[in-house]
Amino acid sequence: MERILLIGSGGREHALAKTLVGSASCEKLWVAPGNPGIEREAECVAINVADHVAIEKFCMRNDVTLVVVGPEQPLAEGLADSLRAENIDVFGPSRAAAQLETSKGFSKDFMKRHHVPTAPYRRFGSNDRDEAMTYAGQHSLPVVIKYDGLAAGKGVVVAETHAQAQQAVELMFDGAFGDDGIVVEGFLTGQEASVFAVCDGRDFVVLAPAQDHKRIGDEDTGKNTGGMGAYAPAPIVTKEILDVISETIIRRVLDGMVAEDMPFVGCLFCGLMIDGSNVSVVEFNVRFGDPETQAVMSVLDADVAALFASAARGSIDASTIRSTHMGFACNVVLASRGYPDAFEKGLPITGIEEAESDPYVTVYHAGTRVSDGELVTNGGRVLGVTAVGSTLSEAVSRSYQACAKINYDTKYHRTDIAKRAL
Ligand code: AMP
Ligand code: GLY
Repeated sequence: MERILLIGSGGREHALAKTLVGSASCEKLWVAPGNPGIEREAECVAINVADHVAIEKFCMRNDVTLVVVGPEQPLAEGLADSLRAENIDVFGPSRAAAQLETSKGFSKDFMKRHHVPTAPYRRFGSNDRDEAMTYAGQHSLPVVIKYDGLAAGKGVVVAETHAQAQQAVELMFDGAFGDDGIVVEGFLTGQEASVFAVCDGRDFVVLAPAQDHKRIGDEDTGKNTGGMGAYAPAPIVTKEILDVISETIIRRVLDGMVAEDMPFVGCLFCGLMIDGSNVSVVEFNVRFGDPETQAVMSVLDADVAALFASAARGSIDASTIRSTHMGFACNVVLASRGYPDAFEKGLPITGIEEAESDPYVTVYHAGTRVSDGELVTNGGRVLGVTAVGSTLSEAVSRSYQACAKINYDTKYHRTDIAKRAL
């Protein structure tokens, strides 16, 4: 039986918490720091997750057998390395392996070395501003300019003109996100999909493919966000395409990481562009996606605690999974009007219980807080209203019916989640 500490506080962690608590092998779950929704599932503990020593001490005092890391920041800061040094099992990659997400340049060079399909690119270091300006000014259009380091999802510009491209280059070299240099890459056409592989360093299992909706507005208009909704399984990723992804992407990444002495343990998030039978990597992340996880976990029938523990210990046990795609799930994000720009916080939320009176609906908390005993908004993405169904359209309509029951003054959501697949 596992005694698990989950790190994080968003909708993704709420979904992971619910799935872990429901696992046959989970004896006890703590979440640091958690949120008001997670408190319904598990014991939330107020540890500063940047304080590795505090996390280690908590694990020792409470006989924690497994740490599951939700967000990328603690992985980028080496939390998995610190814990492993104390012989604590971790589901999450080392700081070195996390470079697949923390450095776009590393990730592109790695893919090139290991023949993983991705857009052609050039990498420019912090001293290469002039070359980058010239290159971006001559590249075929559209052209994609990416900050090399972590930029909270804001470091990518798809430029339609050379002026826009050069403006993005200047912004990034002026230190908008730091001084890590940039990657300039070709534009990929097709539909995006997210595929999560649970990895033990050498082997992996693939979960249900999902699709996120990154833009704030219906029909994919307006600004990029952290994700406005997701559904799984995404029919665009057929069984044949999933096999191609496993062989030409995930297998090569895991083998390459072993060959380079930084085996990848944790969730490898493949952000993909799919065009007919062609698949290219847009990006890797080294953790589960948000909000895709809310949908992917909803259709996963597995002892997830045992799955993650076996991966963390280097011998993944696929028999812990009964099905990766039990029906369909749709997650609609309820946001604060104004997001991803400025928005108001602290507005009272009502109707979650009514929404959850439908047994097929779960409301995941992302940006909420309790103030004077009342649940209020506390983020751009507030709730993830998730429903399951035996068809995708059933899941979608249940999810939207539940959304209608929830209210707060600044409530905003997209009305077309999963529409493309219906
Ligand atoms: P990334 O952070 O690398 O995932 O980029 C953010 C978003 O920018 C992606 O989800 C895509 O919508 C878009 N994007 C990034 N790279 C490309 C590319 N090479 N071609 C087309 N769109 C891209
Ligand atoms: N849904 C995209 C991400 O988690 O980065």
